[in-house]
Amino acid sequence: MEISVDGVLKARKFPFIFSFFILLLFLLVSFLFLSDTQSQIPVRYDLGTPQTSIIVKSSVPPPAPTPTVSLPLPSFHKTVVAGVSENATTEVADLKWSRCIGPVAVDYIPCLDNFKVMKKLKGKRRMKRKERHCPQPNPRCLVPLPKGYKIPVLWPKSRDRVWFNNVPHPKLVEFKKDQNWVQQDGDYLVFPGGGTQFKDGVMHYVNYIEQTLPAIKWGKLGRVVLDVGCGVASFGGYMLDKEVITMSFAPKDEHEAQIQFALERGIPATLAIIGTQRLTFPDNAFDLIHCSRCRVHWHGDGGKPLLELNRILRPGGYFIWSATPVYQDDEKHKTVWDAMVALTESICWNVVAKAFYETGIGLVIYQKPVTSHCYQSRKENNPPMCDRNRWNNISWYAPLDNCIPPLPEPTYRWPVAWPERLNSRPVSLSGLADVESFYDDTKHWSQLVSGMYRQKFPIKWTSVRNVMDMNAGYGGFAAALIDLPLWVMNVIPVHELDTLPVIFDRGLIGIYHDWCEPLSTYPRSYDMLHANSLFGNLRLRCDITEVAIEMDRILRPGGFLLVKDTMEVTNKLTPILRSLHWSITLHHEQFLIATKGFWRPRR
Ligand SMILES: C[S@@+](CC[C@H](N)C(=O)[O-])C[C@H]1O[C@@H](n2cnc3c(N)ncnc32)[C@H](O)[C@@H]1O
Repeated sequence: MEISVDGVLKARKFPFIFSFFILLLFLLVSFLFLSDTQSQIPVRYDLGTPQTSIIVKSSVPPPAPTPTVSLPLPSFHKTVVAGVSENATTEVADLKWSRCIGPVAVDYIPCLDNFKVMKKLKGKRRMKRKERHCPQPNPRCLVPLPKGYKIPVLWPKSRDRVWFNNVPHPKLVEFKKDQNWVQQDGDYLVFPGGGTQFKDGVMHYVNYIEQTLPAIKWGKLGRVVLDVGCGVASFGGYMLDKEVITMSFAPKDEHEAQIQFALERGIPATLAIIGTQRLTFPDNAFDLIHCSRCRVHWHGDGGKPLLELNRILRPGGYFIWSATPVYQDDEKHKTVWDAMVALTESICWNVVAKAFYETGIGLVIYQKPVTSHCYQSRKENNPPMCDRNRWNNISWYAPLDNCIPPLPEPTYRWPVAWPERLNSRPVSLSGLADVESFYDDTKHWSQLVSGMYRQKFPIKWTSVRNVMDMNAGYGGFAAALIDLPLWVMNVIPVHELDTLPVIFDRGLIGIYHDWCEPLSTYPRSYDMLHANSLFGNLRLRCDITEVAIEMDRILRPGGFLLVKDTMEVTNKLTPILRSLHWSITLHHEQFLIATKGFWRPRR
């Protein structure tokens, strides 16, 4: 049968004509779209990592690099993967994946769930159980999903409710019932904003603090806070309303899944403990440190726990201690209070306020000195001053100190008020070249993020809340995202230049970490991982496959990985990510964007 246009019109086959035009339109749009994503414009956004050497405060050399692990390289087989930019290699690494097994498999944190090592730590060393003990070699299994796992509730709703099936841990609902930490409501866990010291909601408590000490100026001069022993991190979650960014932390202990709840809620949090080792933060980092009934014996172990706070508190910064020894005067509490008075005086902390509220609680606020005058005029050099020449600024598997670190010289300046602080000259940068490189870096990231990352890349920014910058440099990536409703954990790898003080100076948060080891966080903690020029150095020290396994563990299904690196690195990484069933696109020969799906190995 002959088909002509005339014939079709005469036969009034309008539905057919309509469908035909829709098809044509679809083909045209697809062609335009593909030609855009596949166009290989030879543009190089050459931002790199800062070139100038900065902040080499440490006179002690960094820890010796972990020996290179030489594991057999994966072999590859070719498959054609649809919808991928032509230049991205389509190879799939021939790796056989299996699921992690055992009672904690879905929530597996390799360095905190090393039960074999933990069991051996008895007596005084019990505290060490909650510190990092990484298995050797790194695990090669993939964490399974909890039954009924769903894409998490979006911020800001997530601050108040999350899916129960995503974090199916009901113990705190009962255990902290009278303190309003968390309740169960059908398919959800609900967080009413209560806590041990703020049963009736954290906002009253925060306002009380500001009335007690107006100089705190939440969100202006007091921008970066550390909440020690944070529970489910409601304090940090609500402080965001005041433009305050809080690093909330607590150990993995009997407060079941507290940090997992915090991260599921979209609140910045990490697993850590005040135990026998330094926290993974730089000196003079936090504007304010808060502890409400955080159960740390500050004067124990010769006062080392409080000396650790002294190390990481900014000169002139405040420590808020809201705990029973402040407002209960039975014998037991009085002993603790007296010990705290002696210790804080010996390290020259001033009491700037002490208050008792009608809710029955009370708190004391201390301030760290800005100059060394008081240290020098102490009757006894106890605790001693740390030896300036031997002072080691690297806080990675470093034991707690029993000394007072030297203050920055000559006079300490507090950062300018937020939000100007974000792009102003950081107080820890002194050299002119470093300052210039900081400004250049800030400009580059601002242009790259606004011009490329947020415009051109297949990233659904509205679903992104918890972000990790795996090699954060000066924190330019985080700074360029400041207007979005997300937060960034800036990581400074321990073998890179120590730029973490600059990140805190800017009013952002971060930690040190070695990516050759698993991170102290729960599986499915982050919506996005960003890795700028990370893998080149890393590949010399450990197996990139293991780093990919760790990224797979900490990224949520549906989450994004954005790698900015050389083609050599991308070509190594892509087949491994494909074997994990991640979908991948490559842009301008230096940006790899991968999305993790829901795939898990069968067994
Ligand atoms: C009673 S809860 C208080 C929680 C929260 N601050 C509040 O007021 O609701 C005690 C908290 O301190 C944490 N904690 C206990 N020992 C700690 C330590 N050595 N270092 C840091 N946090 C600790 C617990 O995990 C828990 O989060």
